Amino acid sequence: MTAPAPRPGSVALITGGTGGFGRALAATLLAGDVRVVLADLDGERARATAAELGADFEALDVTDRAANAAVVERVEARHGRLDAAFLNAGISAAKSEDELDLDEFLHVVDVDLFGVVYGTVAARPAIRRAGGGAIVVTASLAGLSPMATDPGYSVAKGGAVAFVRSMAPRLAREGTTITAICPGFADTAIIDRIRDQFTQAGFPVLTAAEVADAMVAAWTSGEPGAAYVVQPGVGTVPYRFKGVPSARTAAGETAVVPEALRPPSMR
Ligand SMILES: NC(=O)c1ccc[n+]([C@@H]2O[C@H](COP(=O)([O-])OP(=O)(O)OC[C@H]3O[C@@H](n4cnc5c(N)ncnc54)[C@H](O)[C@@H]3O)[C@@H](O)[C@H]2O)c1
Repeated sequence: MTAPAPRPGSVALITGGTGGFGRALAATLLAGDVRVVLADLDGERARATAAELGADFEALDVTDRAANAAVVERVEARHGRLDAAFLNAGISAAKSEDELDLDEFLHVVDVDLFGVVYGTVAARPAIRRAGGGAIVVTASLAGLSPMATDPGYSVAKGGAVAFVRSMAPRLAREGTTITAICPGFADTAIIDRIRDQFTQAGFPVLTAAEVADAMVAAWTSGEPGAAYVVQPGVGTVPYRFKGVPSARTAAGETAVVPEALRPPSMR
């Protein structure tokens, strides 16, 4: 996927912005004169990372609904607009045991799925006020195929892909393209626990820069509701979803969902 660069002077918000993908994306965007705001859990390391990059920092726990809205408000107040929101914060389970740790499962879903929902709701009106733009969600390959070692992660990322696809039509009507990025394993802190096993097996992992390029392309030339797979040696390719069988009427024709059941913007 090759894509035009974002317009210089546009404003991007990146959640989980001081982690591996966030830093790589920020560096790419800043080099193109995009104004970048990194939102992440508060801490010395996070603040220092943003300062080193030359990006703004906003303390944010993406599971806090009100905080998502407040961050977007501050971005608009400071920069006058918001053009793109990269909803990228994410965690995986710390251990993979046969017994599910329900507290951990729910926490992963809270961050990786509901963080995306809250972020979308918060960013939507600001991007609309800017005349349209993009929301790019960092999902995962684990959202498209089962991850037996971390069911909560798979549920959250699969939910994020479903959310993106379901929200796309209403957002597209107001000029905002929502897409999902579904990378395979990439070399960031999130794979610290298992990196040695990849190395020993000679299993290829992505660089953060490769994923950042896919995120930029999703912003500037993504198709509404698309999920882009990013894999080593493959590049960035749109995932083709297989359709489901439609209901048939008594006459054997394809049944269409009644108009009254669609959201007002889609009638
Ligand atoms: N690295 C991979 O192999 C890989 C593959 C597919 C998808 N992903 C996804 O990419 C995204 C970025 O991950 P990464 O690889 O850069 O890992 P990372 O651990 O380097 O970065 C994740 C960032 O999210 C932040 N974060 C965690 N919980 C948060 C919360 N509640 N609120 C705000 N920020 C929070 C962390 O502080 C960190 O900066 C995640 O959503 C991850 O699930 C990663």
